Amino acid sequence: MLTPQGEFELQRVPHNPQLQAWDAADLYLLKHIDESRLLSRQCRIMLVNDSFAALSVALADYSPTMVNDSFLAEQALSKNLIFNGYAPDLVDFNTGIDLPRHEFDLILIKIPKSIALLEHQLYSLRSSIGFETRVIAAGMTRSIHSSTLELFETILGPTTTSLAWKKARLIHVMRDQSLNQGQSPFPDCFVVEAGREFTICNHANLFSRKGLDNGSRLLIENIPISEHYQKIVDLGCGNGILGLIAASLNPQAGLLFTDESYSAIASAQLNFKAAYTGNREADFRVTDCLQGVDENSIDLVLNNPPFHQQHSLGDTIAWQMFVEARRVLKTGGELWLVGNRHLAYHAKLKKIFGNCTQVAGNRKFVVLKALKR
Ligand SMILES: C[S@@+](CC[C@H](N)C(=O)[O-])C[C@H]1O[C@@H](n2cnc3c(N)ncnc32)[C@H](O)[C@@H]1O
Repeated sequence: MLTPQGEFELQRVPHNPQLQAWDAADLYLLKHIDESRLLSRQCRIMLVNDSFAALSVALADYSPTMVNDSFLAEQALSKNLIFNGYAPDLVDFNTGIDLPRHEFDLILIKIPKSIALLEHQLYSLRSSIGFETRVIAAGMTRSIHSSTLELFETILGPTTTSLAWKKARLIHVMRDQSLNQGQSPFPDCFVVEAGREFTICNHANLFSRKGLDNGSRLLIENIPISEHYQKIVDLGCGNGILGLIAASLNPQAGLLFTDESYSAIASAQLNFKAAYTGNREADFRVTDCLQGVDENSIDLVLNNPPFHQQHSLGDTIAWQMFVEARRVLKTGGELWLVGNRHLAYHAKLKKIFGNCTQVAGNRKFVVLKALKR
């Protein structure tokens, strides 16, 4: 990546040589802060939603703070710092669940895919913005809508946009300190009826935050029951809905919830605690798929795999999830997943497990089962 701050080598996590680890919005931001001479030695910089650490690495000499909900982004940060000759802890990592309480001189925000996450972040950022703080956001023009600009206007203050450059745009925000009303509406909750009522609360960045996803619903209607399940994993758990219901149907089983999103794990923890008021054990792990989970230790893996990472679509992560599910399953253990019919996950499962059965289906989704032999 060529920038006014230097030339850097960057990789995505997970590694994908076909996809670049930075975009024109990163380059536009770095060009603008150089041309406007916004950097000084003592500059305290916060970088929000820097997915693959392009900004963090380019500005590493200023020891910035990176705010990101993603464990993969955290991994990209240390990997790319090392690649470029920096110490992996040179940049502070913050999950965004509790932002640093002090003020910053420069806050750079990449527009996230989720508008709810942006809303939550703008409310949280209020306490980090002083009279001298410069706030600049950036994104590709296709992800900046009038509703995006309205959020900045109503939560932080007067907002202007730059001309487009290589299909990217900058958003300049003046903090109006008198705008103090309102607060983040997250986490927000809905109720799911599945034999009993489960209250499902969701932090801002959660999948299907407003209600039960139709794919998850089909899997929930088919969750298997067996007295032999000792350990069940909800892989890519989001708010934990699959694991919560599996726990109720299999009362003897221990539960493990994994997700790469810090706010997903926080939500799953919240929901499990509310459903089982302290009388049921469960582990919660922020990790990449099933990294750190022992081989041959699990009886049942439940999964509704993701089909995008940030703004790009793909099945790399789904494939990785299936491979890792096989690794952690005991012989005779089962992976049950739901997916869009057109994604043809059965072909992948057949390659990885050597078998695959369709358990249920409707016009849009299928529930598939693969057995570790
Ligand atoms: C389609 S959502 C399903 C959420 C939930 N299980 C449900 O059914 O509502 C996929 C989930 O996978 C998570 N995820 C994406 N990449 C991941 C990875 N590399 N490791 C673990 N979880 C991941 C996402 O954060 C998201 O919560």
